[in-house]
Amino acid sequence: MNRSGQGLYWQAGLAVALLMATAGATAGAPETESELANFVIQDCGSCHGLKLKGGLGPPLRPEDIEALPEAAVAAIIRQGVPGTAMPPWKALLTEQEILWISRQLKSGALIAPESDTF
Ligand code: HEC
Repeated sequence: MNRSGQGLYWQAGLAVALLMATAGATAGAPETESELANFVIQDCGSCHGLKLKGGLGPPLRPEDIEALPEAAVAAIIRQGVPGTAMPPWKALLTEQEILWISRQLKSGALIAPESDTF
């Protein structure tokens, strides 16, 4: 038996269990949504720009993704864009979180408060 291999599996399993517990416990609660909003700004923003106006990745303001239906945005977040820097997020985000982010991107809600100042 490979003990270090088992340890890795155990750690990965624990991380997934913790993620699921966190998501399940607070699903729909405002803290979850502000945490998720933070995640989009920090993590997605590292490539797409803190105001989602683009960087390494293309801009993600509502006018930029007008041609993509919400379901297409969700599919891109879920699967990434193979052969580009856009990674798949399905291992990190729940389906609910992916759909929530897609809706926010389409509505511009995450960037609306500062959209005039940048
Ligand atoms: C490591 C850099 C990187 C990160 C992090 C990243 N993206 Fe991307 N993303 C890209 C690149 C590059 C593309 C362009 C892919 C292509 O050429 O079609 C892209 C494309 C997209 C598109 C399609 C845009 C369009 O107009 O076709 C969406 C939607 C998107 N990303 C959402 C997200 C979301 C939401 C997150 C956070 C969960 C995220 N991305 C994180 C690099 C990144």
